[in-house]
Amino acid sequence: MLFLGQVGGAGGQQEEPSMRYQSPRGTHDILPAETPRWRALERRFTALCQRYGYREIRTPLFEQTDLFARTVGETSDLVTKQMYTFEDPGGDRFTLRAEGTAPALRAYLEHSLAGQSPLVKLSYVCPIFRYERPQAGRYRQHHQVGIEVLGSQDPAVDAEVIAFGAAYLADLGITGYTLKLNSVGCPACRPNHRDALRSAVHQHLGDLCADCQRRFDENPLRMLDCKRERCGELLANAPGSAEYLCEECGTHFARLRELLDALGIEYELDARLVRGLDYYTKTAFEFMHTAGLGAQSAIIGGGRYDGLIEECGGKPTPGIGFGSGIERVLLVRQALGVDDGLSDEIDAFVITLGAGARVAGLRLLAELRAAGLSADTDYLGRSLKSQMKEAHRQNARFALIAGEDELARGVVAVRSMQDSEQTEVPTSAVVEHVKSAKPDSEVDPR
Ligand code: HAM
Repeated sequence: MLFLGQVGGAGGQQEEPSMRYQSPRGTHDILPAETPRWRALERRFTALCQRYGYREIRTPLFEQTDLFARTVGETSDLVTKQMYTFEDPGGDRFTLRAEGTAPALRAYLEHSLAGQSPLVKLSYVCPIFRYERPQAGRYRQHHQVGIEVLGSQDPAVDAEVIAFGAAYLADLGITGYTLKLNSVGCPACRPNHRDALRSAVHQHLGDLCADCQRRFDENPLRMLDCKRERCGELLANAPGSAEYLCEECGTHFARLRELLDALGIEYELDARLVRGLDYYTKTAFEFMHTAGLGAQSAIIGGGRYDGLIEECGGKPTPGIGFGSGIERVLLVRQALGVDDGLSDEIDAFVITLGAGARVAGLRLLAELRAAGLSADTDYLGRSLKSQMKEAHRQNARFALIAGEDELARGVVAVRSMQDSEQTEVPTSAVVEHVKSAKPDSEVDPR
């Protein structure tokens, strides 16, 4: 089985000398043994969206490059180093979806969703493409579930979005995470924080890494996010944003904390939490988990972006949301042992013996499937012994043995694979027999 932590692809560890092609580095195939886990996660997310009133949006896999450059920030790592950008044969520049928020907002504006309702709640499940150095939990194609709320600046919406994140993790059986919370201010108060940061590190400027020296001029807040040890030390006493909030941002943040306390959602204030994308204002948060992830510990990241819709050409409209990496969440579930049991059991495997029994066997197979049961048969002309082995391999509840002799007597030999007990059941009653042995909750309600 391919574990998610194992980065496949050209240059990865799993090279097969005889293989000519591999998936691109930092991407992975989701194999049949893995897809039930993905579907289970997506089902839970979708059910939660329904409970919380979020409606799904699907946007194209690529957008005009300018959409990401303008919204995420011209100087951000994502825009300067990580976008998959190409020119199409018509000479237009496009970028594979580098994050989920900007495309959702583009669609919100393009289709005037605000005209249908002043408060719009959207959800999405989609692949995201970023040219990053691959490692466990960090890929060049990853997948996110995400939500966005557009139209309200009420801190109660911030609380709902964070509560949704907590409920999502709880539904997936994930405990032991830390929710980090900060307010990154707004264009009115951020310049003060920027100035304070610059003064705090000015005398050590030459000791900062080249990236931070650039950030010092372009976007000093980003220095707080630097992963290099030396920069971390130099910035250890640098002021956090919360100390510089204007009255409006301060009141919003205080109200959000009150609401989270009232909802019983635990968080850690982290004045140094700055997110990698430039569009955030006021609330910023991350749910972190270390199990199975190492350095890539953010499993949910989000925040408020009150100026973004205007930046995209719309009327000033507040917004907030989050994105959560599916691969990372699955790795945490695996590490915590709360993975969904793989339900790869089938209800029946039809074994036919002799050419005369084949048509009747195939008809029985069709009847089982039409009744909503999962069933399979042999297509390789194998012996009885090999067909029984195959029934075991497929985890069948029953092997249904249709030999010429049984069919002549109007019966099928029904063998329970669990206790090897075998009985003869009239052919016309076999479907009902298999169905009645199945727990009620698992019967397809058709
Ligand atoms: P982000 O923090 O860049 O935010 O990504 C959200 C989540 O996606 C991360 O917390 C992480 O779980 C996952 N993730 C990010 N990059 C990778 C990667 N290379 N490999 C695997 N997983 C990854 C955003 O993208 C914002 N659009 C979130 C948002 C929505 N903010 C407001 N609304």
